[in-house]
Amino acid sequence: MTTKAPCSPGDSLQVFKGTLLHSTDTSPLETLDHRILGVNGMGKIVFIETVDKENELSQKWHFKKEDIRVLRPREEFFIPGLIDTHIHASQYPNMGSCLDLPLLDWLIKYTFPVEAKFKDLKFAEDTYTKVVKRTLRNGTTTACYFATIHTDSSLKLCDIVDKLGQRAFVGKVCMDLNELFPEYKEILCESLSETARFVAELAYRKYPLVNPIVTPRFVPSCSSKLLQQLGSFAKRNNLHIQSHVSESCKEVEVVKGMFPNYKDYSDVYDKHSLLTDKTIMAHGVHLSDDELERFHRKGVAISHCPNSNTSLCSGLFDARNALNHKVNIGLGTDVSGGYSPSVLNAVRGAIDVTKILSLKFSDYEKLTYQEAFRLATLGGSKALGLDKLTGNFEVGKDFDAILVNTNVPFGPFEVFPDDTQQDIFQKFLFLGDDRNMVEVYVAGKKVVPFQES
Ligand code: GUN
Ligand code: FE
Repeated sequence: MTTKAPCSPGDSLQVFKGTLLHSTDTSPLETLDHRILGVNGMGKIVFIETVDKENELSQKWHFKKEDIRVLRPREEFFIPGLIDTHIHASQYPNMGSCLDLPLLDWLIKYTFPVEAKFKDLKFAEDTYTKVVKRTLRNGTTTACYFATIHTDSSLKLCDIVDKLGQRAFVGKVCMDLNELFPEYKEILCESLSETARFVAELAYRKYPLVNPIVTPRFVPSCSSKLLQQLGSFAKRNNLHIQSHVSESCKEVEVVKGMFPNYKDYSDVYDKHSLLTDKTIMAHGVHLSDDELERFHRKGVAISHCPNSNTSLCSGLFDARNALNHKVNIGLGTDVSGGYSPSVLNAVRGAIDVTKILSLKFSDYEKLTYQEAFRLATLGGSKALGLDKLTGNFEVGKDFDAILVNTNVPFGPFEVFPDDTQQDIFQKFLFLGDDRNMVEVYVAGKKVVPFQES
């Protein structure tokens, strides 16, 4: 009787040799030098060992020396794929423009009008293809997207994400209040029935890496009835939830006016069953310590979007305080409130905000670059409840990774002979861009360079 090999050559094992950098619960930055890593045909990491185990591994897993992809030391290394925990795919046409107004005025003047265009499926297809390609090129292996109120174009975003191989949550936006731009809203019953249709249709399509997320836009755009129905729907169907909370002071005031008998903004979501351990809330700039405690108790995560918070002059998010409250935090680009599609930009922004806070409070403990990197990878995966699958390099997880090359022609920075591996990594973190992300993998599949024509 023959015993089946753990992975026969037909199972398309991929083997890499070189340096990996990633985060763990105990270490925000771990450098794994001289490692050999195997990925099976299902895209799962099946071994990570030191290179001295190569012969043993090659016998066990039936690979040949010439099948190993060897990374050039100092020039090439793997990092986990970046996780964008908050991005509006539908605002991509405005990315890099329209940043002269605060949140509520910005929504009315620029954002609702651009989102209204997604009624047109062809426009949706063109735009969504561009944004998914752009984020993948920038190393976003997982994205948590807001689409628009239009179900069919939201499903189109799911098709495109699936086709291009990204991992994602996609939300059909729900909103039944919009006095100042009434052309862009739904009626109550339609918002819920279309959310149900979106979820059912997406389930029917069985895309392996694309999941639905219940998406009430934010309290000022939603009636109490809609919030309650969405909360119950998410609970009944065990679904993830995303929204915005306490982004700007004016918004917090509006919510107070709408719900004067509630303790605070978070209480409104909580009383409508929207704060769960599957909820991610964007911003949270103006949350009180009480609210942060509630987030911790309920397992609610925050998507920190520094570029947006600065661009719309929303405020300075105190990441240290949120971390001290043991709230899960991921990073978000919040395109197009944020002008950059790159999670690396969010890493830099997150660090910068804490440096600014340290100018105001002399004993403030800034985020280190290692901590910010962890927020962009493992932190994001925990915030989205995906940390069993992705976020770092562990046997059993999917291989979501970026092959970084620090020596590309006309690249954005130089490496000098005296630079340590940590220096090189920092240069990439602060100065690197899509030119350095020469290959991107999601669940073991190379998705950048793009495979399709
Ligand atoms: N709050 C409600 N909608 C939005 C949006 O589209 N972007 C941002 N940044 N905040 C919001
Ligand atoms: Fe947003």
